[in-house]
Formats: sequence, C-alpha cells, structure tokens
Amino acid sequence: MAFLADALSRVKPSATIAVSQKARELKASGRDVIGLGAGEPDFDTPDNIKKAAIDAINRGETKYTPVSGIPELREAISKKFKRENNLDYTAAQTIVGTGGKQILFNAFMATINAGDEVVIPAPYWVSYPEMVSICGGTPVFVATAQENNFKLTAEDLDKAITPKTKWFLFNSPSNPSGAAYSHAELKALTDVLLKHPHVWVLTDDMYEHLTYGDFKFATPVEVEPKLYDRTLTMNGVSKAYAMTGWRIGYAAGPLALIKAMDMIQGQQTSGACSIAQWAAVEALNGTQDFIPENKKIFEGRRDLVVSMLNQAKGISCPSPEGAFYVYPSCKGLIGKTAPTGKVIETDEDFVSELLESEGVAVVHGSAFGLGPNFRISYATSEALLEEACKRIQRFCAACK
Ligand SMILES: Cc1ncc(COP(=O)(O)O)c(C=O)c1O
Repeated sequence: MAFLADALSRVKPSATIAVSQKARELKASGRDVIGLGAGEPDFDTPDNIKKAAIDAINRGETKYTPVSGIPELREAISKKFKRENNLDYTAAQTIVGTGGKQILFNAFMATINAGDEVVIPAPYWVSYPEMVSICGGTPVFVATAQENNFKLTAEDLDKAITPKTKWFLFNSPSNPSGAAYSHAELKALTDVLLKHPHVWVLTDDMYEHLTYGDFKFATPVEVEPKLYDRTLTMNGVSKAYAMTGWRIGYAAGPLALIKAMDMIQGQQTSGACSIAQWAAVEALNGTQDFIPENKKIFEGRRDLVVSMLNQAKGISCPSPEGAFYVYPSCKGLIGKTAPTGKVIETDEDFVSELLESEGVAVVHGSAFGLGPNFRISYATSEALLEEACKRIQRFCAACK
C-alpha cells in the first residue's frame, strides 16, 4: 500500500515558489540577484488597517470566530459588492476564508466529483489546475493568443465546454498576463455561458483594484445578471490592500454553495484569524485613498518595464490593463546560444540562463500553461526594475 495519497501524483509543486527559493539561495551564496518572481505588493499594509488589528487584540478579539466569518466582516463584504460592483448579496451569502486560495479550494472541494471538468484559460495562475486535480476534477485548458492580449475568445470558450463541464474559471485582471476584460469583452463570454446552463462561473477578482489608465473593471454577474444563480464571485484583501500575510479572502454566491463551503471549512480550519478579520473590516469600510495612490505607482512601473522589454532583442511585450505582471514572449530567443554556450530551446532554458548570466529571476511561461513566455512581477522599486530590464536587454543582445 502506497503511503502517499494518489492525488499527490497529480500535483506539481509551485514554479513561482521554486523560482523565489532559487533566487534566495543564489543571494545567500553571495550572488547579486534581482528577484522578479514575487506575487505580492512591495508596499506595507496601510496604518489604519494595522491599527484596527491592534485595537482588536486590545479588545480581546482573540477567540474562535463563526466559520464563515465575523458578522461585521460579512456585512462589510456585502456592502463592498453593492458599492463597487452593484451586486446584491446578503451577508449570509458571503464567506470569509484564510486567503482567496482557501475560498477557491473549498469551492472546488464542495462541488467537484471525479471526472468533472473545469475550463481554465491559459496562461493561468499556477494553483488553479493543481487545486482542481487534488479535488478529483479535470482541468481543461484553453490557450489564448498574445495577439489577442491573452484574452479568451467566445468561440474558444464555446468549444471547450462539454456536458462534463462544471466550472468556468475566470480571472481578470489575470495572474500571470495582467490581461483584464472590458465590459464588452466579458459580455461576449457571458453570452456563451448563457447557452450552457449547466456551467457554473468561478470568477477570481483578486486584482480588481489594480487596473490602469481609464480601464474599467467588470465582473461576470455585473455584466450578465442572469448568471447570478450559478456564479461564485471571489475576491480578497491580499493584493488591493497589501495584506498578503494577513490571509483573508472572501466570496459571495448562491446560499446553498456558501453553506456547503462553510461545512467544509468547519471541518478544516474553522474561521479565519480573528485579528486579521477585524483588519479586513477596516480595509473594506475605511478610507480607500491608498488604492489610487498605489495604482499610480504600479502604472508607472508597468510602462517602464513594457517599454524597456520591447527594446530587448527577441522580446515582445504587450502592455496589460492590470495586476502587477507582464508576460512577454521570448520566442525570438529560442534556438539562440546563451553566453554559457547552452542553446535556448524552451522558455525554461531562457529563464535559467538569464538567472545564470545576469542574476535576474523571472518565472517561465510554461509553468502558467502558455509559452514561450515569461512572467515578470513589477511589484518592486523602479530602480530595481530598471536595472533588471537593463540586464535582460544585455542578456538578449549577448545571445547569438
Ligand atoms: C489570481 C490569484 N488568485 C488568488 C490568489 C490568492 O490570494 P490569497 O493570497 O488571498 O490567498 C492569488 C495570489 O497570488 C492570485 O494571484
């Protein structure tokens, strides 16, 4: 009898964590390494949010909370959906989890039977297929094209849906491409979904507040209210409020699904950290001034990185609407010889040679299901980004 569960044979370790680990090891050995692998804002959590947590500790809010979250936070989430997305969800239709990650995981756990399919546009966030596989489902990938700014077409979505499709997993702005769907682009997809009433929609809106220029964020139920009864709208405070370590995510959806997720969470972690929940109440109800300030900084970094990457030989980089990632193609370098003498055959070769030659750590696109590309996180200072892009330009010029 095997000791480890069969489910583990279907799961890959996270490539993004592996890159961060490798960069840390090289740094520890004395190498000058710039890590562009991180999936978190480099800003600190705003002071009003930290204070709310400290106040919660001082008030003794240190006990178990209800599994789905403290009523104050569920109320704040309900208000957030009305205020920002024009969606009507009662507090009872919301659930708070230990990060957006737990929300996604428990939604799959609560709904997936062996063989159920989950349609996932590629490139995708590394955890999606692994979560689906652990729960016994089958991820069905649909490739997008760089020429279409990594956005799924209605036709391709339609073709991917089968009688076994349980969920369509939607993520805008996207990790890793930064692509965000306009209202009209999303409407084309929701029109397809209306034709397939057995398909549920799981929308991961984690990067909602990180969009640039005059782009206007839209979420599926806002665009097509007829999807209300079969959509789980997921979000969280991690990225918008620089609260990745606090581990608070949330979702709203049909009551029966929320109750099923509550049941799983009740046998698993129970309620999320009480103190972090009080901090999240302040994040959602308190001043939102922090968000536009951050967006401005991220937008400047995006423009810098896109412009410098497009000046690197063999690289082409679209300018995405949101998140803090770009997803350039390194197709022009495939078949070239790196300074170490190694021929670059894949995007994985490209990123490992780049790390070796110039000490810049990025993540290969094949880890996100679409290449030859690589992901750069620009959640770091302009000075470091500029230096990293200079090194990438130098590396590309040195490949023959
Ligand atoms: C697209 C996407 N969804 C969800 C998450 C998970 O967020 P959390 O840190 O709240 O678990 C991440 C984090 O990287 C993400 O990139």
